Amino acid sequence: MQPLAERLRPRTLDEYIGQKHLVGPGAILRKMIDAGRISSFILWGPPGVGKTTLAQIIANKLETPFYTLSAVTSGVKDVREVIDRAKSNRFFSQSSPILFIDEIHRLSPVVEEILYPALEDFQIDIMIGEGPAARSIKLDLKPFTLIGATTRAGMLTNPLRARFGIVAQLQFYSNEDLAKIVKRSAKLLNVQIDEDGAFEVARRSRGTPRIANRLLRRVRDYAQVKYDGVVTREVCLLYTSPSPRDA
Ligand code: ADE
Repeated sequence: MQPLAERLRPRTLDEYIGQKHLVGPGAILRKMIDAGRISSFILWGPPGVGKTTLAQIIANKLETPFYTLSAVTSGVKDVREVIDRAKSNRFFSQSSPILFIDEIHRLSPVVEEILYPALEDFQIDIMIGEGPAARSIKLDLKPFTLIGATTRAGMLTNPLRARFGIVAQLQFYSNEDLAKIVKRSAKLLNVQIDEDGAFEVARRSRGTPRIANRLLRRVRDYAQVKYDGVVTREVCLLYTSPSPRDA
C-alpha cells in the first residue's frame, strides 16, 4: 500500500486545487504544460504547499519520467549515482525527463558544477582516476528539464538563478481552497466530514495542505474514539493538537 501522503496527492491538474496564478487558465505554467514543452524553472514556496506535487503532475501530464534528487542529502555519492545511471543509459534515456531537485538552494558547489554544463549542453564532465593519471571525460546526455524547488529563493546562487527563466512562487492557500482539499482527502480516506468540519480543519492549517491533511487524520482519530466518527466543527473545537508544530 502506498504511504498515505502519496495517496492524497493529486495526480492531474484537474484534481489540483489552488495556485491559479500559476496553473489556472492562461497562467504561465499552464501555458507551458498545454504547449507540451516546459523549460527548466524554479518552484519557490513555503514547506507543504505542494512543490513536489506540482512537479509530479507536470511530469504525468507530459508523460515524461520523473527523477528526484534532494539537495540536502545528495552529495558526491548521489552525483556518482546519477552518472552511473547515465552510463547505464537508464537515466536520461527517454525523451526529456524531468529532474526534480528539492531544496535546490542547498546544493553543494560540487553538484552545481556538474549540473550547469549538463543543463546547458547536455554533457557531464566527470573525472576518472586520481593524481597525475586523472583525466576528465565528457558524457553526452539526452536533453532533460530541471525543476528546482526551494523554500528560500533568496539563497539561490546567482549562477543558479541565472540558468532558470522562471521563478514560480507558490502561495499559501485560502481557507476556502484548503477546505476543498480537506473534503477531497476525506473522501479518499473514507472519513465522514461536514462543511463546517472541513472549514474548521482548513482554518487551523495555516494555509498549508500538508498540515491540513495531517490535522484531518488526527481529528478523524479523535472523532472515532470520542464521538461517532464524523468530523464536525464541534469535534474540531474539542480537539486540541499535541503541539502547534505537530498540528
Ligand atoms: N492535496 C495536497 N495539495 C493539494 C492540492 N493543491 N490540490 C488538491 N489536493 C491536494
